[in-house]
Amino acid sequence: MVKKKACIFISGSGTNLKSIIKSARDYNFPINIELVISNKKTAKGINYAKKYSIPYQTITNKKKFEHFAYRIIHFKKIEIICLAGFMKVLSKDFIRKFKGKIINIHPSLLPKFKGLDTFNRVLRAKEKFTGCTVHFVDEKLDNGKIIIKKRIAVKKDFDEKELKNSVQVLEYKAYSEAIRKNIYL
Ligand code: GAR
Repeated sequence: MVKKKACIFISGSGTNLKSIIKSARDYNFPINIELVISNKKTAKGINYAKKYSIPYQTITNKKKFEHFAYRIIHFKKIEIICLAGFMKVLSKDFIRKFKGKIINIHPSLLPKFKGLDTFNRVLRAKEKFTGCTVHFVDEKLDNGKIIIKKRIAVKKDFDEKELKNSVQVLEYKAYSEAIRKNIYL
């Protein structure tokens, strides 16, 4: 199979990145990770790029992030961008350039709980169920067409950390499933 060239954008611990890297080792997985871009120098996820010998770039300049990211993505002929814990909002201009080619994972059942501080808000709202959503990125925050949602029950005694851990286990399955599902992105 001809794998599509993918770039993963991260800002933090990169556990979703790690999970996609593992899936991508499979001959039948439709993407190959050609590049990891972090907007944070301290992002732990960079270590996964190093460990698995994936080229990576750290672009910390807020104003020029998209300019530099675009240049390298263009140069490497990247076809798909996966946002995996990438906490910077991309401009409409950038999103338009890659229309239908950027996907994101969000730790809630969208359209519920868009934005930040998701786990805390889910607990405060006493939701019975929560989960994660993989979706295409459009010009509005956490809004594009949904590819996959996965759901879990919120246990009554869950604290924020326990909820986060449970949702993230779900995320690892959801992201790879979403990528497989959208083989012809
Ligand atoms: C994930 O839970 C992801 O859903 C969330 O950040 C975490 C990153 O973890 N993303 C967002 O909240 C985006 N709005 P990771 O760096 O270990 O993959």
